Amino acid sequence: VKRVTTHVLSEMKLKGEKISMLTAYDFSMAQIIDNAGIDVILVGDSASNVMAGNETTLPITLDQMIYHGASVVRGVDRALVVVDLPFGSYQGNSKEALCSAIRIMKETSADAVKLEGGREVVESVTRILSAGIPVMGHLGLTPQSIHKFGTYVVRAQEDAEAKKLIEDAHLLEEAGCFAIVLEKIPAKLAAQVAKELTIPIIGIGAGGSVDGQVLVIHDMLGINQEFSPRFLRRYHNLYAEITGAVGNYINDVKSGNFPNEREQY
Ligand code: KIV
Ligand code: NA
Repeated sequence: VKRVTTHVLSEMKLKGEKISMLTAYDFSMAQIIDNAGIDVILVGDSASNVMAGNETTLPITLDQMIYHGASVVRGVDRALVVVDLPFGSYQGNSKEALCSAIRIMKETSADAVKLEGGREVVESVTRILSAGIPVMGHLGLTPQSIHKFGTYVVRAQEDAEAKKLIEDAHLLEEAGCFAIVLEKIPAKLAAQVAKELTIPIIGIGAGGSVDGQVLVIHDMLGINQEFSPRFLRRYHNLYAEITGAVGNYINDVKSGNFPNEREQY
């Protein structure tokens, strides 16, 4: 199989071919979505929410992200694998950011890292790139800043924040990011960024006029019941499927129907 590289992604933007991206946090799920043909797999720090049950992405550690990242990479033959730098592993200074990025690359064999922010992290982006590590940016609703925002509502609805977002996107492109995620911002603003920048813009809650889309796998498969923002399309109700299967198993165990004659030695 021909592997997806950052170069392939920029060619896709040139050709107007949309980029598909999903999260995964473990070997088995990564293998399924890679074989299904997904272009990019994000080992998101959303693992903090959907894998560990935390309220925010803040508690997850670099060691935990590395465990998830290495597990995903072992399941992937084709997709580009990006691992999130978790909260606290890069904000201190650019040297700390580089050390964290190097640990991810060495200990997971992923293809790239992602971090949140614009101007505030440009120096770190530059330093990580100088070590030959591809960097994906992330602007808009950046969940590691939830305590600053105070709410998960749509970002950059006001002119000042929209203007800063456009400036930040240009700064990240100039610094050398190979792509940027835009999360939960007006579709019109996202479209403008995708048009002004030459690198691929991947949206989540950022409308259809960007270069690709990303969703959290637990959300799009309907494993989560509670989380239903407007941008989320559920492609399956896995919660109901699993509940049904587990219910059948429980009934079979209780009734003595499982195991049968052929299911024993
Ligand atoms: O952690 C994550 O899942 C993400 C995506 C929502 C872009 O950063
Ligand atoms: Na993330």
